[in-house]
Amino acid sequence: MPSTRRKIVAGNWKMNLDRAAAEALASAVAARQAEAGGVELVLCPPGVYLAAVGGALKLSGGRSPSGVAMGGQNMHDKVSGAFTGEVAPPMLVDLGCRYVILGHSERRTLFGETDAAVNVKTKAALAAGLTPIVCVGESLAEREEGRTQAVVSAQVNGSLAGLPPADLERVVVAYEPVWAIGTGKVATPAQAQEVHALIRGLLAAMASPDVAGRVRIQYGGSVKPDNAADLASQPDIDGALVGGASLKADDFLGIAAAFC
Ligand code: PGA
Repeated sequence: MPSTRRKIVAGNWKMNLDRAAAEALASAVAARQAEAGGVELVLCPPGVYLAAVGGALKLSGGRSPSGVAMGGQNMHDKVSGAFTGEVAPPMLVDLGCRYVILGHSERRTLFGETDAAVNVKTKAALAAGLTPIVCVGESLAEREEGRTQAVVSAQVNGSLAGLPPADLERVVVAYEPVWAIGTGKVATPAQAQEVHALIRGLLAAMASPDVAGRVRIQYGGSVKPDNAADLASQPDIDGALVGGASLKADDFLGIAAAFC
């Protein structure tokens, strides 16, 4: 039976673009969102451009006329306080975000984020009304050592620990093998599907098969318009988290179109 999960393609712009380019890209995606069919689109600009992108998308209460949504790339787990340089979950909501990427591999490897930290942030995002996009994925060395399943299982179980089923089904999980991020080396559809199925099994064990069947699991890592269709054909791949290719409207929408 085909899944009823709505496909979701998110663009992680990382630390790229300037304000004018961010506004232009958001406007272009909004104007052309029909090309994505019914696929949900989320744009995750650098934090300092959230307001500008929210304006370009004409966001009101997190909703835009085009249906394109906005997300943060990271956040703190506290709602306010003496945390110089940090951004609180309600601040993201205030600017119109409905999503936030958490535990991206760059956050994990470059900024020392642990599964426990991602877990606290995931709960804080849900409490603020945000949908967390929780990233997991093994490194090349871990894959070559045959540890992919163990690493991804520990990340999923650790990052999503203690979530009640009603919260768990609101989460989006992004499987992003670290060796595929920004390298042009995409996982094969079979490699990705194998890990997506593993993740869905872990979610079923945490809650129930029904809940697991409602959680959307994205693939990320060198997704491009010309490899998206093969990934989209896999039963447990419900969309993509796109880095480099999300910086061009043509490529981002081409990827989204492959999932509709
Ligand atoms: P990439 O990045 O598409 O440039 O490989 C994906 C990501 O980091 O989310």
